[in-house]
Amino acid sequence: MPPPTDAQIAARQAWAVDALDRRMAIIEAMQSSGAGGALGLLGLQRQVAKFLGYAGSVNRARLSDDVSAAFDRHIAALDAIAARVDGDLAAAHPDDVAAARGRLGLRLALIGKGGAGKTVLSSTLARTLAQRGRKVFACDLDTCPGLAFGLGIPVDDAGLPDEALEEQPAAPYGWQLAAGITPEEAVERYGAEGADGIRFLGLGKIGSVDKDQARKSVAAVRQILMGFSSVHTDVIGDLEAGPTTPFEGYHEYATDVVVVTGPAWRSAMTARRLLPMVGDRRLTIVANRFRDEPDHPGLPPSIRIPFDPDLTQAEREGLSPFDACPGSPVVAAVGQLADLLLAQAAAG
Ligand SMILES: Nc1ncnc2c1ncn2[C@@H]1O[C@H](COP(=O)(O)OP(=O)(O)OP(=O)(O)O)[C@@H](O)[C@H]1O
Ligand SMILES: [Mg+2]
Repeated sequence: MPPPTDAQIAARQAWAVDALDRRMAIIEAMQSSGAGGALGLLGLQRQVAKFLGYAGSVNRARLSDDVSAAFDRHIAALDAIAARVDGDLAAAHPDDVAAARGRLGLRLALIGKGGAGKTVLSSTLARTLAQRGRKVFACDLDTCPGLAFGLGIPVDDAGLPDEALEEQPAAPYGWQLAAGITPEEAVERYGAEGADGIRFLGLGKIGSVDKDQARKSVAAVRQILMGFSSVHTDVIGDLEAGPTTPFEGYHEYATDVVVVTGPAWRSAMTARRLLPMVGDRRLTIVANRFRDEPDHPGLPPSIRIPFDPDLTQAEREGLSPFDACPGSPVVAAVGQLADLLLAQAAAG
């Protein structure tokens, strides 16, 4: 690839500042939404931490002095909000804070080798949480999508329409979320509705080999996930197989990462490669298609999900295990996974 031109560098820097402004607008909207109480504070604390994590990770060597100064101001403003929120939470009643932690929507990303079971587990987890009365936004981050099927979504096009996108030459593939649409609005307006009230958004056309729309949606969907601040909604992202998109940071929005491994040695090799990309997020390792194999070295699973041939059959018929084989031990084990993820989140 040729080195970027000066014009391209300037465009990227302008975009970086625009992105900071958008993030600050999200924080300001959260602060003024009146969603107070411990739940509102926890949501704000998490969102600020997420944006601070991003701002702190940007390589300043590539930024002009002006843009670097904009980052400094952004970080200082977020630090001040974080300190105030920490103080308010410390002053709140510990029982209220503990109860709110249990209600705060999860931010999950599922990663693992191809065929490990990310999609089946994402959809079954989404259905499990939704049936427990939680609001769920499930997002397919795979350009070869499949999550919608497991959510009972009959549409064949669940990507973002052009009206949700605007050209941004500096963004990956040249497009981003249109100005003026908040992440929540995008999910409400353009998300498909699945079983149990699940909202669904994907990167593109399901079953289509045309990847253009998927590419156009990449930056926007990541902006939606990163800025999605609803405290009541669980977010589940099903990532593309392998380390490429985790390496790119597609799971940056998540506070919990589920690494899915199958029994095969190569599945474990990929999982090990993924572990450093989990960073300081909470890690949950899941052994899927489990029969009675010993655990992979270095990958102690928190949950073992049994192999069930009924599941493979359900998938061939385009059905969710939830509908096709609700009595499957896989559905029961995913219930345990949901319990574990909620308990970990409640423990803080
Ligand atoms: N516990 C299980 N028992 C039996 N079959 C399973 C189990 N988990 C997944 N499968 C089957 O394995 C296949 C791959 O699962 P899935 O599509 O969820 O994997 P994936 O990790 O999302 O793959 P990809 O990386 O290709 O997106 C599917 O046919 C699915 O039905
Ligand atoms: Mg998949």
